[in-house]
Amino acid sequence: MSIFDGKLNIEVSSASGIEAVTKREITSLGYTPGGAEYGRILFEGDWTDVLRANMFLRTAGRVRVLIGTFDATDFDTLFDGTESVDWQDIIPLDGKILVTAKSVKSKLFALSSIQSIVKKAIVTKLCRVHNVNKLSESGAEYSIEASIINDTVRLTLDTSGAGLHKRGYRTWLGEAPIRETLASAIIQLSVWNPDRPLIDPFCGSGTIPIEAALIGLNIAPGIQREFSCEHFSNAPDLRGIVQEEAEQLVNRDREIRISGFDINPEAIKLALRHAEKAGVRDKIHLQVADMRNLSSRFSHGVIVTNPPYGERLMKEDELRELYRDFGKVFNSLDEWCAYVITSYMAFEKYFGKKATKTRKLYNSELECNLYQYLGKPPKMRFDEVYKNPRLLR
Ligand SMILES: C[S@@+](CC[C@H](N)C(=O)[O-])C[C@H]1O[C@@H](n2cnc3c(N)ncnc32)[C@H](O)[C@@H]1O
Repeated sequence: MSIFDGKLNIEVSSASGIEAVTKREITSLGYTPGGAEYGRILFEGDWTDVLRANMFLRTAGRVRVLIGTFDATDFDTLFDGTESVDWQDIIPLDGKILVTAKSVKSKLFALSSIQSIVKKAIVTKLCRVHNVNKLSESGAEYSIEASIINDTVRLTLDTSGAGLHKRGYRTWLGEAPIRETLASAIIQLSVWNPDRPLIDPFCGSGTIPIEAALIGLNIAPGIQREFSCEHFSNAPDLRGIVQEEAEQLVNRDREIRISGFDINPEAIKLALRHAEKAGVRDKIHLQVADMRNLSSRFSHGVIVTNPPYGERLMKEDELRELYRDFGKVFNSLDEWCAYVITSYMAFEKYFGKKATKTRKLYNSELECNLYQYLGKPPKMRFDEVYKNPRLLR
């Protein structure tokens, strides 16, 4: 049985610090995730589930499928183990074969050698089975990862293509944008739910308000992009089914109160273009404004933001002044909560308040803290809470 019509081990990668959110998302999709180890979470499913994971997971980096696993401490065993896989059932004769490698605590650690041995073994197998001397590699891309951890090799096939943070709406780059997957994870870690107002006072290119709107309107993150597995010639064409599921789940009628502000008019121009592309332009409020003038007629809202943080964006004394003023503005808001991600480690000192909770996260490679400030939850009628216990968070 080929991988395209049987049960599969599906591997979802997730950035350090947000694995618990990804796991929760996998559970909400109806699967049973295993433990999170080495930045990946495993669950079982079939090819439809591979597409659903690509389509619906907001915090996943990419989705891979396990092709083979074996122990190897030398290159001969690596070659033989790789060659023993039935690659002809997965990669067509003209498939373009890309190999990446990863090694942790293993005897085989030279990544470029691992890559070339694995590629050679796949090519050898395909040439032998098809009785040819050479592969044209002119067709669709098949990206294989050889990950060796504690001398155990795992060969996986990437099904995402471009990283899943690339939703398709952010086609122009702003100053120091936050990854879409991380923005979504922070929103999901927060107490925000679509019934509460959300403000990003330093919204830059709009990532946080847009990701919140996608959650609020139940728009799948993958709804307007493609995945590399759609081009696999041996795979069943299930995109239509999964696309229909995603489209049926969208709820554009939902009232959401999401705003983004930035002092830089160019950033807001960009944010508006991104919101337009994401299909949420008419659902969020984006405006040029200095954070120092922020106020809200609502109580119990949630600030989720990624303020300027370093030398490149601002001098340190200006940054401290900005954080001081941000602290004062926050204090003037009625029972709001705040979630602030920054790599500036003395943030609390200048903001003037110790965080209720701090969590270490990475914005790409940059180590950051998420400072979480909790206000009193809104009072709710019993019937509201009864219908939707999540409102209590
Ligand atoms: C780290 S960037 C935010 C990036 C954003 N999360 C994104 O994904 O594009 C910080 C933003 O703060 C804005 N900023 C700096 N000082 C500000 C102020 N006083 N009021 C509002 N925005 C400000 C900058 O223009 C910049 O766009």
